[in-house]
Amino acid sequence: MNDDKYKRLDRGFLFVFEGIDGAGKTVVADRISQELTSEGFDIVRLREPTNESPWGQEIRQRSPEGELSPEEELTLFIKDRRWHVRERIRPALEQNKIVLLDRYFFATGAYQSVSTGISWQDILRRNRVEISPPEPDLVFVLDLPAEEGLSRITGRGCKTNKQFEQLDRLVRVRQAYLEMSREDEANYCVVDAVEPLKDVVGRVLSRIHQELSEHVI
Ligand code: TYD
Repeated sequence: MNDDKYKRLDRGFLFVFEGIDGAGKTVVADRISQELTSEGFDIVRLREPTNESPWGQEIRQRSPEGELSPEEELTLFIKDRRWHVRERIRPALEQNKIVLLDRYFFATGAYQSVSTGISWQDILRRNRVEISPPEPDLVFVLDLPAEEGLSRITGRGCKTNKQFEQLDRLVRVRQAYLEMSREDEANYCVVDAVEPLKDVVGRVLSRIHQELSEHVI
């Protein structure tokens, strides 16, 4: 139930933040969370992969070590998400809260299509069929060139072979996100993430305000 100290909404809202590594989705989602909290909204901040389910923990422990095959990763992301939707996302939406979610099944579509060679269309379909996940009110795709994303996470320059491989992967992940935002049925909002942080936050916040405007009770 909504506590009296919060602004009340007539339903829950789900806003998702996506983008390649280095796009800034975590910092943007944090700022949005602070803004909306200070405006009196009841915010639930979540992320995938989770740190909570056994599958999310397995991804976080074993994936950076290169121990998982791309297909094993795909299956684990879906199992983690099924748990997350049931235990965290749906309950918050049912209590008319605003869920700010850092990555969702669109990340699986973008990243695992590149790693497994399965099309993003098939991966999104598999998520939708196997989990019946709630569709977001908006999916913010924070978009920037792969070179810029990589240099934000590694510091300037792309010198080692490993970095070239990572660059190539991020070029393809970005392309998958952009294709998805044009062709998939979800409600996407592509935001230029090269802009200064305050402008990116301002743009996202004004889209969210538009969505919420007729639902404050
Ligand atoms: P990220 O949000 O960047 O987490 P952190 O800020 O903790 O590093 O996600 C970690 C990585 O997981 C990122 O490279 C994208 C990848 N990922 C997938 O490949 N598929 C998915 O379905 C999800 C949710 C994440």
